[in-house]
Amino acid sequence: MRVLHVAAEVFPLVKTGGLADVVAALPVALAEQGADVRLLLPGLPPMLDAVQGARTIIDIGSCFGALRVRLLLGRMPGSKLPVYLVDAPYLYRRDGSPYQDRQGEEWPDNLQRFALLGWIAAHLAAGDADLQWTPEIVHAHDWHAAMSCAYMADHAPTAAASVFTVHNLAFQGLFPMHDWSLLGLASRLMSPAGLEFHGQLSFMKAGLKFADRVTTVSPSYAREIATHEFGCGLDGVIRGREVPVAGILNGIDDAIWNPATDAAIDTRYDAERLAGKQACRRALQAELGLDRDDQALLLVVVSRLTAQKGLDLVLAALPELLRLGVQLAVQGTGEPALEAAFRLAAQAHPGRVHAFIGYDEARAHRLVAGADAIAVPSRFEPCGLTQMYGLRYGTLPIVRRVGGLADTVTDADEAALAEGRATGFTFDAATPAAFERCVARAVQLHAEPLRWQQIVRQAMARSSSWAGPAREYLALYAEAAEALRR
Ligand code: ADP
Ligand code: GLC
Repeated sequence: MRVLHVAAEVFPLVKTGGLADVVAALPVALAEQGADVRLLLPGLPPMLDAVQGARTIIDIGSCFGALRVRLLLGRMPGSKLPVYLVDAPYLYRRDGSPYQDRQGEEWPDNLQRFALLGWIAAHLAAGDADLQWTPEIVHAHDWHAAMSCAYMADHAPTAAASVFTVHNLAFQGLFPMHDWSLLGLASRLMSPAGLEFHGQLSFMKAGLKFADRVTTVSPSYAREIATHEFGCGLDGVIRGREVPVAGILNGIDDAIWNPATDAAIDTRYDAERLAGKQACRRALQAELGLDRDDQALLLVVVSRLTAQKGLDLVLAALPELLRLGVQLAVQGTGEPALEAAFRLAAQAHPGRVHAFIGYDEARAHRLVAGADAIAVPSRFEPCGLTQMYGLRYGTLPIVRRVGGLADTVTDADEAALAEGRATGFTFDAATPAAFERCVARAVQLHAEPLRWQQIVRQAMARSSSWAGPAREYLALYAEAAEALRR
């Protein structure tokens, strides 16, 4: 099966969130199961710098406002996975995030930047961009790649099926309707049956409407986005799909997130050698300037600081957390108000609260390894990866029971404790009080080291490898390709 993955980011070259982790790991897992997988990425500077042996496949000339567009083919550093880069210097060679400038403003030409990516995917699918290799499946990730599905449906005569994965429905790629003509699509797609969304153009909708199969990153989120509460205005479109949205839970990259081999942490450990985790905990307290306290529940947060993540609940609950003797360490970047609030909290409670406002991969590993628990109190969470890192590292997740968090963490209630199934702590209401009660339960169990260690072992035993999800995707690809042939 020849599969082309189309995305805007890939770890470790360009990453703004979990999407990059998935785009790095899933293709490798698919290849390990025999698929012939390639990536298609925009030629952002870090990608051009890192991709090895890049050569020009086709010189496209000028399009989407760029004077010079070329399609390159090289290999991912490390994995040797073939990767196409769209080299369009005018559109992609700039500093900042893939989506925003340094001031946090969306790039004004994002419509052209991400339409081009999808347009090239459709030409690869049609077999006229690379004469040597044509995908049977084009798998597009999030709104950035969603136009692949619209161009494949509208333009190119293609034998490939399109699969669209929603990683986060809240980011939709909305553009003014008057930019329609820049897309070069048939005008019938301009209607509500196409890309039109409340008077704007929606790239997300292009994926939801025109992909042969739509998936999202957990079974619970697949159900949630069909409801008004989580549908971000697109729940009608989602419910209207002939083939319902499939929920396939993400895995985590075991080569990168594994406490038995992790070079970033103080002492390596596994479920049989938990003394190493204790060493990581002490090292972390020392590194962060937290009191050396063996009794406290050391709770960490590694997250984008945005409304999605529900971290205002942590701030509101802080007095109660401190009363319970919790130590809190937060690492994240995002909304200035949240950054400032965590900084202030750390200043007000030296030795008990630590805040690092910044992005640092190695440091994230040390936090996850050294903590007792990791909080993910999200308002919505398509999948969430950090709670899975927590499980893998025996750092028990304290999560809101929503989306992928609900699908990956088993609450330590009476029944789960008795049956040896508990892996963490969940709560329902998005209120400080509900979060506080949940943390209080964790604190109570943490005070009983033998019972706590039992849950830690159960958490570490949970399988989170990409092999299972990769099998599910391959089955879905086969089904989509088969449906196209019929
Ligand atoms: P999302 O994609 O919504 O941000 P995920 O949990 O899927 O949420 O993925 C977040 C990813 O980003 C994880 O790999 C996490 O470790 C990483 N991450 C988030 N913030 C930071 C940070 N400040 N430093 C290092 N890694 C971070
Ligand atoms: C998105 C979601 C997150 C998910 C990630 C990878 O960024 O917010 O929940 O884990 O994509 O699929």
